[in-house]
Amino acid sequence: MTLIQVDNLYKEFKRQKRKDGFWQLMKSLVYREYEMKTAVENISFQIDRGEIVGYIGPNGAGKSTTIKMMVGILVPTSGQVLVNGLVPYQNRIENARKIGAVFGQKSQLWWDTPVIESLRLTRYMYDIPEDRFHQNMKLFDQVLGLDEFKTVAVRSLSLGQRMRADLCAALLHDPDILYLDEPTIGLDVVVKERIREFIKEINRQRGTTVILTTHDMSDIEKLCSRVMVVDQGKLMYDGNLSTLKHDFGNMESMELETTEPFITEQSLVHMGVSVNAGEDNKTLLTYDKNEINSSAIMKWLMERYTVTDFKVKETEIEAIIRNLYGQFEQVKSKRQEQEVSLV
Ligand SMILES: Nc1ncnc2c1ncn2[C@@H]1O[C@H](COP(=O)(O)OP(=O)(O)OP(=O)(O)O)[C@@H](O)[C@H]1O
Ligand SMILES: [Mg+2]
Repeated sequence: MTLIQVDNLYKEFKRQKRKDGFWQLMKSLVYREYEMKTAVENISFQIDRGEIVGYIGPNGAGKSTTIKMMVGILVPTSGQVLVNGLVPYQNRIENARKIGAVFGQKSQLWWDTPVIESLRLTRYMYDIPEDRFHQNMKLFDQVLGLDEFKTVAVRSLSLGQRMRADLCAALLHDPDILYLDEPTIGLDVVVKERIREFIKEINRQRGTTVILTTHDMSDIEKLCSRVMVVDQGKLMYDGNLSTLKHDFGNMESMELETTEPFITEQSLVHMGVSVNAGEDNKTLLTYDKNEINSSAIMKWLMERYTVTDFKVKETEIEAIIRNLYGQFEQVKSKRQEQEVSLV
């Protein structure tokens, strides 16, 4: 069942033109010149109840801007967002009752107030029944370990503690949707893991729909079955993670140890294998597994070397995404070339 419907969404920002040089800068203080920046360009998608969707892309791609329009903080330039049948910016209060949001860069809690007081205030704001509040606090305490810093003022919390408190505040009123904009930014691996487990648990137990932006691909691998990739405001990919891996992640590498020093031979290069020689007769071979398989390479090696150790590794998701952004760049520059040649 569709919970979030986004159609042909655009967001443009007016911003002052930047100028180089002293006189140019002085001039710009008197005559302000503006330019338009399209942060979100013609994005459409649907999200069903209970999904965990990863929304990824390089810095400045338009992720936070999209999330802010779904939350109702920003008004779209054109196009439409419908959440639970509501237009978020027109029904901010009604929408806010059904959603929770965590922005990793900025706390939603009262800065000078102890965590527990902040959470009690949240209870009054959302009119959460006393027993539900205690039930939720008990669960959140178990998974997120709030007890250790409950009485500390938010401004004195460590980043990981603050993020846990923010997550708790965002979920106290049992929202249908949880928006997470970089919830694991700057956290150590233990806290990251704890937060991922918590998100998974909430989704499983309560069917909460989760929309997550992150630069940490392990977040995506551990949590999301579906990913949307944006670049320069445009939606470049929307589908499941395994298809993304299959379509773009066809590189494989082999770590190799030989008794003799490894010499790059043309016949290997012709097979489409690139060679990176390391120290102590260790070598890294990289190849497209759709073009050649590891057993063919192994056969070639056995005929020439004494292989003492080897390990075949799939491309990591980070490398796939980097590859993907790279391919977007190629598509874009090709498009520009075509446009130029048409002029
Ligand atoms: N309030 C604003 N006024 C002007 N320009 C803005 C504003 N907010 C965002 N932008 C611009 O819109 C573009 C998209 O920004 P956005 O914050 O959505 O990116 P992002 O994908 O969240 O990036 P990051 O990974 O760095 O968080 C950027 O070029 C940014 O400079
Ligand atoms: Mg952002």
